[in-house]
Amino acid sequence: MIEKSCNAPMTENDRFHFVTILSVAVLSFGGCGRTVVTAPAKSSGPPRLTELTPAQQMQKERADAARGELFSKLMEKLQVSLVEAGPAGAIDVCQQAAPQMAQEVSRDGLRIGRTSFQLRNPKNQPPEWASEFVRLKTREPVFVGLPGEKFGALFPIKLLDQCTMCHGQPAQIGDEVHAAIRKRYPEDVATGFAPGDLRGYFWVEVD
Ligand code: HEC
Repeated sequence: MIEKSCNAPMTENDRFHFVTILSVAVLSFGGCGRTVVTAPAKSSGPPRLTELTPAQQMQKERADAARGELFSKLMEKLQVSLVEAGPAGAIDVCQQAAPQMAQEVSRDGLRIGRTSFQLRNPKNQPPEWASEFVRLKTREPVFVGLPGEKFGALFPIKLLDQCTMCHGQPAQIGDEVHAAIRKRYPEDVATGFAPGDLRGYFWVEVD
């Protein structure tokens, strides 16, 4: 009798526990930085949309355009300030200009910002709907429906070569830059990244 029950096929309940244990295992490894889990737990956050209505498709295009606009503004500003002020001086520019540019692009019922699972500025927390996707280091764009027919988009940002002077390994960050970062962002954990790594996200909300 006992032997038989050990060989019995998995019940729904067993399967549920197996899946739970598996997810916990995957999530624990996620902490090491390489494992990718794209779906958030059922209980947290809105589910990602796999098909978009025509209205959502238009919201997505607006989100995409805003992401492109903010990205080019930031890159341009970064290049100019690196030349004019050097890497340590560019930290100041980033601190002032990054939130200001996000505000400029946030208009006509659209809001945009940058966030990460390893933040430099603690004010760059993700919006509530995005937090689980950010925590799980989702590598693909995520689209969700939000209350009141609103739309949320989360676009991954990868690290480029020119980012390592401020977000790379400690050896890649000059002393002056390190000091400037420490002074303005005492809680900074946004270092240790290599080119190609997932660095963070643009989040966008469209009414
Ligand atoms: C000159 C130094 C410098 C360089 C180069 C730099 N960053 Fe940053 N980065 C910063 C600073 C300073 C902040 C904090 C800005 C703020 O206060 O919002 C920041 C914040 C961020 C954030 C927002 C999340 C957070 O941690 O607060 C992302 C995402 C990001 N950087 C990505 C990049 C990428 C991608 C590149 C390369 C294209 C890059 N950075 C290059 C200094 C730099």
